[in-house]
Amino acid sequence: MTRAYSITAEAIAAESKRVGGDPDKIDINRVIALDTLALRPVGPRDVRLRILAVSAEHNLTHAATADTVNIAELRGGKIYPGNSAVGEVVEVGRDVARFKAGDVVVTHCNGEPDAHGYPLRIWAYDQPESIGWYAEEAVVGDWQIVPAPLACGLSLWEIAALPLRAPTAYHLWRRAEGIFRVKVSEERLATLNVLAFGGGVSELFLMLAKHRGHNAFFCSGSPERRKALEAQGIVGIDQKRFNRFAGRDDVKAFGAEIKKQTGGQGMHVVCDLLRGPVFEAGITAASREGVNVSAGWQLGTMVKYNSAGASTKQLTLDHTHYDTIPGCEAATSLYGRVFKPTIHREIYPFEALPRAIAEMQANTQTGIPIIRVAQEMPASVKGLVR
Ligand SMILES: NC(=O)c1ccc[n+]([C@@H]2O[C@H](COP(=O)([O-])OP(=O)(O)OC[C@H]3O[C@@H](n4cnc5c(N)ncnc54)[C@H](OP(=O)(O)O)[C@@H]3O)[C@@H](O)[C@H]2O)c1
Repeated sequence: MTRAYSITAEAIAAESKRVGGDPDKIDINRVIALDTLALRPVGPRDVRLRILAVSAEHNLTHAATADTVNIAELRGGKIYPGNSAVGEVVEVGRDVARFKAGDVVVTHCNGEPDAHGYPLRIWAYDQPESIGWYAEEAVVGDWQIVPAPLACGLSLWEIAALPLRAPTAYHLWRRAEGIFRVKVSEERLATLNVLAFGGGVSELFLMLAKHRGHNAFFCSGSPERRKALEAQGIVGIDQKRFNRFAGRDDVKAFGAEIKKQTGGQGMHVVCDLLRGPVFEAGITAASREGVNVSAGWQLGTMVKYNSAGASTKQLTLDHTHYDTIPGCEAATSLYGRVFKPTIHREIYPFEALPRAIAEMQANTQTGIPIIRVAQEMPASVKGLVR
């Protein structure tokens, strides 16, 4: 048996009733509960992990508030969430050659690759029968883990911030750059203007753009997060100066500011993981031949745009999801060298995981929220607990 967090359809229904059915009023602390779980026996291609640290992820807020779909209900009434973790291998099945006890690994959450490697479903979310890793121990298939790059220069907490966010950012960047290059070659325009709106995935996306030599702009409402990116040469733009794009005039003012900051060109690549009011701002900021790429819908799932305007501007909208497994491995190779995530100042204890998720939803954190799961750390990471 292991301690693991769960979300039940029953808990969502009770909390939803308490707040009169408004998903925005749901208190996540009342929905995510510490539970126990019997792990499956370790099969020939399985690996048993002791979870060291995890990061809070937004799919938890969607699962706990049922604001998009009621995934706990669709999965039979209960899910065990958590699809980003750093763990220590404690046991391997007889056919596992790539890992041994004592190795430290990161998970990926591609739940089931399609014919081209992209996830049909996400582990511990919509993949049937999948058990998540907000737990003290887990049993995973050996195809679900990647060696953790312990010598990459990041702390254990920074490494724990990346297993879900880095592959997402890496995939978004490859797609956006590739699409732009179909339209405009490097020979014609070597340096791109790249914009992303607040959040951990966006920050990593911009680090990659900057690393590749492009001009990167981070439009965020958080002074702490802007400051951290400015230290990496990424220009900060205060989203609150534009009233978070509440009205038409705010969007127009933002468009004018972007023109000013880019010498009239606009943004060749825009990463919008939020949608809602951010979508129109991103479209307004785009240059001719621009690409608007997204893998998120935190503020809204529906978008509306003028197709004629997008056509005449040669604008492309692209939608991505999590990366392929080779993509996850490639993203992991960029930890530390390219990806230097900003971490929230508090490292939460395991028992405070629901509070970490609730504070993430309330947008009060100064970086990516990390939860320490193991008290005793393996010797190989002791120097990284800082
Ligand atoms: N498809 C995938 O595989 C995948 C993978 C990872 C993430 N995602 C999705 O991508 C989105 C972002 O994830 P993340 O991990 O980067 O999240 P995150 O680090 O928590 O960032 C979310 C950001 O949203 C911004 N925000 C919050 N409320 C806002 C509001 N009312 N108006 C404007 N901005 C607001 C905040 O930015 P500021 O306050 O700094 O402006 C915050 O930093 C989520 O929807 C997540 O589900 C998808």
